[in-house]
Amino acid sequence: MRAEEITTGREGSAEHWRLVADGFSQKALEYEAFWTDHPNFTRMRERVQAHFDGLLAPASRILELNAGTGIDALRLARRGHRVHATDLAPGMIAAIEAKMRTAGLGDRLSVQRCSYLDLELVSVGPFDAVFSNFGGLNCVEDLGRVTRLLKKLLVPGGLVTWVIMPPICPWEWLALRRGDWGTAVRRLRPGGVIAHVGGAHFRTYYFTPRQVIGSFGSEFRPIKLEGLSLFAPPGDRKEFAHRHPHWYRTLVRLDDWLCTLPPFRNWGDFFILSLRYRRT
Ligand SMILES: C[S@@+](CC[C@H](N)C(=O)[O-])C[C@H]1O[C@@H](n2cnc3c(N)ncnc32)[C@H](O)[C@@H]1O
Repeated sequence: MRAEEITTGREGSAEHWRLVADGFSQKALEYEAFWTDHPNFTRMRERVQAHFDGLLAPASRILELNAGTGIDALRLARRGHRVHATDLAPGMIAAIEAKMRTAGLGDRLSVQRCSYLDLELVSVGPFDAVFSNFGGLNCVEDLGRVTRLLKKLLVPGGLVTWVIMPPICPWEWLALRRGDWGTAVRRLRPGGVIAHVGGAHFRTYYFTPRQVIGSFGSEFRPIKLEGLSLFAPPGDRKEFAHRHPHWYRTLVRLDDWLCTLPPFRNWGDFFILSLRYRRT
């Protein structure tokens, strides 16, 4: 996703969400090819999976928001959980449905085209966990529009694990070495950043963990936070690990060492945040 000065639909407008749905539908066809043979992205997804697996009870009922092509949904269903995968983009939903036809997962996996702003339309539930991976929630300006819908969907003590892009990404700050302020501070632009996805342009928003926790209110208790790809390159730098294997391994070691410590856990290409619904 790159910054550019263009006019696009305001977040909250039907035009904004049409562009998001069109862009990601277009992207669905090539989405998994990009992540194949991408050591750093594979590592990032494995880190998210380890974080989530460590908090999930066996045979959990999981609602996945912005499920994309269903990579995590299928894996979770194969591990014995029951997953309801939702996404806004028809192309992404079609990709999950195609996989479901041959996966043989029975009723452990269901799919529904549904925006995370319309969760009152979710056709099943309640859930033990609500999961969102890799920045789908960075498309909305006001996360409170999503969090206020969760209480009706989660069981008491339910888990939320969200993977979101923060405003501070130390790798991008390294661009200052070549005087590239645009890249270094792009996530800090007031009013968000224009993303280019599948030929569509729409605004995206970056959130600190504190802002995300604040959007949940006092009924949710944060239980785990870690930064993801702080010094290792972000997901869009596919070539780095192949071209600079020694540097890549060193940066990953640095990430692994620092990612759970303050203030580093607040930074990165993404952060992984888990909260527990307090109501008992
Ligand atoms: C970067 S992809 C991540 C997909 C998947 N979670 C993964 O880990 O591969 C972002 C996803 O968010 C979805 N998305 C964006 N806005 C959404 C909304 N309002 N409701 C549901 N899904 C949305 C997009 O269609 C896209 O599939």
